Amino acid sequence: MKLLYTREEIEKRTREVGKQISKDHQGKDLLIIGVLKGCVMWLSHLLIEIEGNTEIDFMTVSSYMRGTESGELKLVQDLDTVVKNRDVLIVEDIVDTGKTLKYVYEYLKSRGARSIEIATFVNKMQRRQLNDLPEVKYIAFEYDEPEFLIGYGFDYKQRYRNLPAVYKMEESDFWDKE
Ligand code: PRP
Repeated sequence: MKLLYTREEIEKRTREVGKQISKDHQGKDLLIIGVLKGCVMWLSHLLIEIEGNTEIDFMTVSSYMRGTESGELKLVQDLDTVVKNRDVLIVEDIVDTGKTLKYVYEYLKSRGARSIEIATFVNKMQRRQLNDLPEVKYIAFEYDEPEFLIGYGFDYKQRYRNLPAVYKMEESDFWDKE
């Protein structure tokens, strides 16, 4: 595997994004919603860089037919926080096709959120399929290469999430190609 973002680079960008979020939300009581599982690493580090009042909650969204392009999404684990009239910040590890983000955004809107903003660790435009996607306001890294990412929350078959940096997978790293 090939190193893409070092721990130091990640820390630096996370501090910068956290500062920006703090500045934009002064005086607000922010509800931060992480989309599991990939978000855990970045959300934890981002959270301690955000000043002011925050509350966190998590939700899990999954594809009915994981791995297929047409897979419809379903809610696997719901929030236990009241969203109505709250200022919400969605935290993602990656926005790729945009399907997950769109689903989560529409869901929070339907639950009555007052405002919804989005922060993602990696923004990948290459496979973006949806034009009517809400703006992704906070982005730590733009990534426009085809290689699969692992580490710092990103998995390959549920492994590698614990790596402290982000790596691009190489052909020889795929142990199961079925
Ligand atoms: C990944 C990632 C995002 C989503 C982005 O989740 O965490 O939530 O895919 O892809 P999209 O923009 O094409 O919808 P995944 O379903 O792999 O689960 P995970 O977070 O548990 O790894």
